[in-house]
Amino acid sequence: MNNLGIYLHWPFCQSKCPYCDFNSHVSDSVNQRTWAKAFVSELARYHNECPEPVVSSVFFGGGTPSLMAPELVETILTCIAELWGYSRDVEITLEANPTSVEARRFQDFRSAGVNRLSLGIQSLNDDDLKRLGRLHSASEALLALEIAQDTFLRVSFDLIYARQKQTLEDWHSELTRVLSLGTDHLSLYQLTIEDGTAFGRLHAANKLPGLPTGDLSADMYTLTQELCDAAGLPAYEVSNHARPWAQSSHNLTYWRGGDFLGIGPGAHGRLGVAGSRFATETELSPSLWLKAALSGSGEVLRNRLDRRDIALEYLMMSLRLSEGLDLFRLHSLDRSLLNNEKIVSLVDSGHLFRTNERLGATPSGRMVLNSIIREITND
Ligand SMILES: C[S@@+](CC[C@H](N)C(=O)[O-])C[C@H]1O[C@@H](n2cnc3c(N)ncnc32)[C@H](O)[C@@H]1O
Ligand code: SF4
Repeated sequence: MNNLGIYLHWPFCQSKCPYCDFNSHVSDSVNQRTWAKAFVSELARYHNECPEPVVSSVFFGGGTPSLMAPELVETILTCIAELWGYSRDVEITLEANPTSVEARRFQDFRSAGVNRLSLGIQSLNDDDLKRLGRLHSASEALLALEIAQDTFLRVSFDLIYARQKQTLEDWHSELTRVLSLGTDHLSLYQLTIEDGTAFGRLHAANKLPGLPTGDLSADMYTLTQELCDAAGLPAYEVSNHARPWAQSSHNLTYWRGGDFLGIGPGAHGRLGVAGSRFATETELSPSLWLKAALSGSGEVLRNRLDRRDIALEYLMMSLRLSEGLDLFRLHSLDRSLLNNEKIVSLVDSGHLFRTNERLGATPSGRMVLNSIIREITND
């Protein structure tokens, strides 16, 4: 029986962080009952199309899903259980911001069925948290982490590094402290300056001083690998580190080219129906999505992917993983995608590894993945 992941997007936040280009909005009038109806209606629509698989993971992402009423989360999880049923080891993650208001709800989320929490701590330095526009202090975040660890068996948290004015020594001591907090999964992202964000505008106007040079960012990345390896949390993906048993099965579904539904404003999905694979996209605007979902379908795009699309996407996603890709699977999708000469030379230079069955990027290769993918594909 096939496994299926379900991603649900909650697009609301208490405030907009200046670096963030996720589909997130500040709104003081969200009728959660109406949203519940829309999510349930979308789930039923997808179930009509693909009733067979069992659901192996659910991910409430955002935005800030910890602002959802626990009753809404429960309604959605009960609906999924009734429609498809869950696999025995189903992973149900909710992204949370570490403010005290939200930490008070962790127990209710657990009672609603959530079994993994992903906390957006971002930094353990109060000045940096302010610069990042966060609404919590470091001590509030640490308290939320403690409550989360007392409540859930599985807790992950996110940090952003390569921040303004951050030195290699700063990151060394911050990450060392982080690794002493008893977590089994960490998402460690380098700060990216995105167009269309407040940071993007400041950067364009030369008003975002102290960002690290490319060399310093690379040193921070290398240090991250060394410290996490030594702590028993090696990278299993470019930005994700975990003890082997704590890897996120939902995210692995994306990177291994599995099927997942994308429900909610701006959510993307990959769907197998009647032997074909489809990419789906939904209405980006929360109000338009809500209206569309309530009147039949929140989807605005459904593209049938041909074998080359599927192969290229599998290549791009799976090379992010330390385990790399299954060459047999890639070849069965498209025999002519890879340029073997280029692969040999990138294996020689230490950027790729290759066995009879697998092709993957080494840690130094994962640092320059986009250019590697461009080089090794015959497109
Ligand atoms: C959907 S977001 C946030 C979840 C939650 N609302 C929060 O802020 O904690 C998931 C993660 O992406 C990371 N992120 C978002 N924008 C980023 C950027 N421009 N550069 C690096 N990391 C970013 C943050 O670490 C964030 O926790
Ligand atoms: S980082 Fe999180 S809290 Fe901040 S705007 Fe983005 S989704 Fe919202």
